[in-house]
Amino acid sequence: MRTLVTSALPYINGIKHLGNLVGSLLPSDVYVRFLRQQGEEVLFICGTDEHGAPAELAAEAAGEPVEAYCARMYQVQADIYRRFGISCDHFGRSSSPQNHELTQQIFSQLDANGYITRRTLKQYFSHAESRYLADRYIMGTCPHCGYEKARGDQCENCTRLLDPEDLIEPRSALSGSTELELKESEHLFLDLPKLQPIVAEWVEKQTQWPDISKQIAKKWINEGLHERCITRNLKWGVPVPLEGLDELVFYVWFDAPIGYIGMTRELFDARGEPDGWKSWWTAGEDVHYVEVMGKDNLPFHTLMFPAMLIGADASWKLADQIKGFNWLDYYGGKFSTSLGHGVFTDAALELYPADYWRYYLMANVPESSDSTFTWPLFANAVNKDLAGTLGNFVNRIFQLCERKLGREVPSGGTPGEAEAALIAQCTEAVESYEADMRKLEYRSAMRTLRALWTYGNRYVDERAPWKLLKTDPEQAALVIRTAFNLVALFAAASLPIIPDSASKFLRALGLDPESVGSAKDYLGLDVVKAGTAFELLPPTFAQISDEDVAALEERFGNGS
Ligand code: 2FM
Ligand code: ZN
Repeated sequence: MRTLVTSALPYINGIKHLGNLVGSLLPSDVYVRFLRQQGEEVLFICGTDEHGAPAELAAEAAGEPVEAYCARMYQVQADIYRRFGISCDHFGRSSSPQNHELTQQIFSQLDANGYITRRTLKQYFSHAESRYLADRYIMGTCPHCGYEKARGDQCENCTRLLDPEDLIEPRSALSGSTELELKESEHLFLDLPKLQPIVAEWVEKQTQWPDISKQIAKKWINEGLHERCITRNLKWGVPVPLEGLDELVFYVWFDAPIGYIGMTRELFDARGEPDGWKSWWTAGEDVHYVEVMGKDNLPFHTLMFPAMLIGADASWKLADQIKGFNWLDYYGGKFSTSLGHGVFTDAALELYPADYWRYYLMANVPESSDSTFTWPLFANAVNKDLAGTLGNFVNRIFQLCERKLGREVPSGGTPGEAEAALIAQCTEAVESYEADMRKLEYRSAMRTLRALWTYGNRYVDERAPWKLLKTDPEQAALVIRTAFNLVALFAAASLPIIPDSASKFLRALGLDPESVGSAKDYLGLDVVKAGTAFELLPPTFAQISDEDVAALEERFGNGS
């Protein structure tokens, strides 16, 4: 069975914060790395979500044509994810020609099958900006409470939902211009009420989704799906392939999930295998398809995207597993791209190596509830778990051996009861860790990984090889050799989470991180043989001091 993994596509405008990373790309990457290490065939697809008004407006604000803006921001984002170690097979673009073609094709199939309806909509056109304004870009006085800065979709003061036409003295939220005109134009809608019975049946059959995905899908189904407008009066997007409506483009949420398919096609086109994408996206093939995303994206992935594919053609591959995450907050408040609250991915990488972030974020992944980022929590995780437990164990073994016996793994001694007990303990941990990783149950997997790391220091403390060196050199050699093997085991298990550091440990022992295999293969604690030359490593993880924490809180805020 092959595995296809797609991570929700980050919007093109703006650099993402840590909450975005932990809600999708990072856990996807950890899962993919884990499966690859098990020797499985995996395809990992992500890319930028480029269409829609926010992209047009961000380009305007940057003084660039939207195509140039997107091309530039695509490079910026792709580079950041690469530096975080996100190992997509392809990081593509929803604006690619492949996606244009597929979006139009899927639309035409939906239309031919009778799942598209047409209706006339009234929308405000702003003469000052020469554009139609989406509801949230209209501002005016709330008819209910008199708040003067109410938005066309909702009044933030009294929380009532509004239509832009309800606002008194409407104006453009972008320019403040009051030169607005209500204009009528024809739009296309996806007939979700008609698709509901088929989608509901499909949702019912799903056995692997976590509760959060099921609950959200069922809530929407119980409330009844409504027709959804799938077109917009914008220039930047996939044009609607219908005469008379060719001034419209598709709604960004229509073409974005199709982007998963478009990006797969980009990859295989680049490889010179133009049909290679098809077997990944055809129902009935030996593919297990996993989608990963933040919880706000769940309605689109559990209902709208499957409805689009089912309505278009029964042969499209649908998700088998839909993994949704809660929010990571910053000191109990929102990480916010628009308000600049919290730590952004580019700034994070300037401060600390990717592995520090990967570890902290995965250990605190907002899986069954929201979780919090604070600098003291981050420092504690790095100091205690990475530097204090894993890093300390590796360093003490390498240094002890080098000081007392030289730069070769020592020979001598036969494993006894202590080693058997250690192997049994590690076996239990690794089996549980691997089972959790396979189910994408990260919190539990991370707890077990942390526990596994502690077994190293405990074994060495109990066996005290520095004493044995004086009393029983054979036993000392056995303990040190066993400890080197624990380093290899820990590195193999940790590779999906902290790939750079784990690779360093493996290379220092002459092992190739690219072909390291499953952690299970290291449970015999005899892969690293006597006589293996090893390299001394500088400390892999540095402590973060209280002064550093204070300075970081000063720079990024501490929520107060
Ligand atoms: O919420 C978001 O960040 C969207 N850009 C996710 C799109 S996922 C997919 F459907 F493309
Ligand atoms: Zn109001």
